[in-house]
Amino acid sequence: MKIRVLTLFPQMFDCLNESIIGRAIKSGKLDFAAVDIRAYSKDKHQKCDDTPYGGGAGMVMAAQPIYDCINAVDPNHEYLRIYMSPKGERLSDGLCRTLAKNNNILLLCGHYEGVDQRVLDLCIDREVSIGDYVLSGGELAAMVVIDGVSRFVDGVLGSFDSHEDESFSNGMLEYPQYTRPPEFMGLKVPEVLLNGNHKEIASFRAQKSRELTKRLRPDLLSGEE
Ligand code: ADE
Repeated sequence: MKIRVLTLFPQMFDCLNESIIGRAIKSGKLDFAAVDIRAYSKDKHQKCDDTPYGGGAGMVMAAQPIYDCINAVDPNHEYLRIYMSPKGERLSDGLCRTLAKNNNILLLCGHYEGVDQRVLDLCIDREVSIGDYVLSGGELAAMVVIDGVSRFVDGVLGSFDSHEDESFSNGMLEYPQYTRPPEFMGLKVPEVLLNGNHKEIASFRAQKSRELTKRLRPDLLSGEE
């Protein structure tokens, strides 16, 4: 998958070079680049924002640098163009899986009080929010999308990582996990996990998964009961 992020703060994305996503970038499963919108500003001081028409607090990101940046990165509209915004469709396991079906994704990060609406009307396919709260910019939200979506791209998760049993994969929260030692600070690993009986282990995990979901996220079960 090819991912391009358009941002005023490209260095914020350096942290994607770590862990699973970093490994996927290094191995070429993900082709990732953060593009600096400021480089496309035609203003002599490379200014990218201005005061809002109609008044009000803060600054608005101007259309021109963003428009030119999008058209330089994606001249033939081959990318799904997403604007990160609290007004967007809420990110979920399902939306991550859907977005992962695209070969090319472009994420536009706003800052300040937002982006001139005309560049969104002209260029953007979809708006995505990571929750009902306002961040100071779209960058952290874009990183959440990149991480959440990439895990569903073929080859990004190694054979030891899997999203088969993890939370939301079957509409429920994941069961608790344990590793060595068998006893820690007086707390023992549940006996059933030590006995090697795969059927019993599966049924123990399914039961725990259900109990946890009922207690912590009953809304996930509401369709069933
Ligand atoms: N930009 C600012 N807040 C955001 C949010 N909640 N989701 C996505 N992008 C944002």
